[in-house]
Amino acid sequence: AKNVGILAMDIYFPPTYVQQEALEAHDGASKGKYTIGLGQDCMPFCTEVEDVISMSLTAVTSLLDKYNIDPKQIGRLEVGSETVIDKSKSIKTFLMQIFEKFGNTDIEGVDSTNACYGGTAALFNCVNWVESSSWDGRYGLVVCTDSAVYAEGPARPTGGAAAIAMLIGPEAPIAFESKFRGSHMSHAYDFYKPNLASEYPVVDGKLSQTCYLMALDSCYKHFCAKYEKLEGKQFSISDAEYFVFHSPYNKLVQKSFARLVFNDFVRNASSIDDAAKEKLAPFSTLSGDESYQNRDLEKVSQQVAKPLYDAKVQPTTLIPKQVGNMYTASLYAAFASLLHNKHTELAGKRVILFSYGSGLTATMFSLRLHEGQHPFSLSNIATVMNVAGKLKTRHEFPPEKFAVIMKLMEHRYGAKDFVTSKDCSILAPGTYYLTEVDTMYRRFYAQK
Ligand code: ACO
Repeated sequence: AKNVGILAMDIYFPPTYVQQEALEAHDGASKGKYTIGLGQDCMPFCTEVEDVISMSLTAVTSLLDKYNIDPKQIGRLEVGSETVIDKSKSIKTFLMQIFEKFGNTDIEGVDSTNACYGGTAALFNCVNWVESSSWDGRYGLVVCTDSAVYAEGPARPTGGAAAIAMLIGPEAPIAFESKFRGSHMSHAYDFYKPNLASEYPVVDGKLSQTCYLMALDSCYKHFCAKYEKLEGKQFSISDAEYFVFHSPYNKLVQKSFARLVFNDFVRNASSIDDAAKEKLAPFSTLSGDESYQNRDLEKVSQQVAKPLYDAKVQPTTLIPKQVGNMYTASLYAAFASLLHNKHTELAGKRVILFSYGSGLTATMFSLRLHEGQHPFSLSNIATVMNVAGKLKTRHEFPPEKFAVIMKLMEHRYGAKDFVTSKDCSILAPGTYYLTEVDTMYRRFYAQK
């Protein structure tokens, strides 16, 4: 199989959200901390009728329907998620309800978990399957689904929720350049979920930022080394049209791209002009560790990177700013923003993606885009996802109401024997929702 990659995508996020500006005031944070300081606009959340299973049921059903895919044509289904609903039964098995109805139970794959990286692991598994000798000619399907919620405190505004479904196969408009890849994996306690009775993570915010940037540097180094070995020339940020980052909040994405510019400066790459060299020169002797803590470097490199950021990164930031951190779905929601904004001018372009999951696992990889053929074309993917429409029809909740819902969700997490309000009035037609968890913890869903 050639040009294996993403044939089709769809995205779902809850219609219920808070404005970051309102949350700022409610939390007693200084004005501008969440909106400018973190760079976030809105934060959706699951109410008691939605969860990672309902969101993924919605995303998968919608993708099959809108691209007219016969459910029998799916041969592998992989889920990435870090939202634990069951320690044994995979989310994938819940999604089998969709396929069993059509007599298709011959579908490989289960769930992958490591913080925000599980979706990338699932995607690589599907792409590798289509490229392998065990491929049976059918499609792969990848689902990234997470509800990101934090305890009250500084991390709470970096939540979010979404599910993304991606159809995988050959001759894809979004094709993998599988040889160009760099990974960095190591042991860290930056963000983890050791308390199985709580949905909230334990998080060392500052450490998680440094771990993210160190992993980025390391992945970029490996990526560049592999590129240079295969292509016989140096790689620099000029060799890709767009850069897409895992997006816990927008400020970290700004810092990440600035970090790539600094890397290119240190490597003496052609992407850095004389004016930029002059500005960055005072930092050329910093050790790696010093460079992560140096606030002046952070400021100057962001300034130097700004025009390139506007061209190569800004078009990827819409959904993450509006929908927050979607954990496994964040990177792919950033990529979906690029398709939404630029689908008419992406053919032939290279796009670099950086996936990060705390704990920690990270990979930088490369995609080559083609216009494709209907229904698997860049423009049709943008039409189907209908990002602008979905953002417009949301319902704003005041922070007080959001806090009350979070309290209820804390009680509901891991609970049994309850029925929900079944109130689906603000959900779009076709959306799945949770109706009941019985005395045996079995979960039941209905479709609006
Ligand atoms: N106006 C404008 N900017 C402001 C204001 C204001 N009134 N107040 C603060 N800021 C800026 C700060 O200067 C800082 O920006 P800088 O880093 O460019 O200097 C930014 O807002 C954030 O302020 P901090 O004081 O650093 O924020 P705090 O430490 O309270 O929380 C954090 C931020 C650590 C990101 C927290 O939200 C968190 O722990 N989130 C979860 C962890 C996370 O997402 N990590 C990322 C990688 S791991 C993952 O994906 C889960």
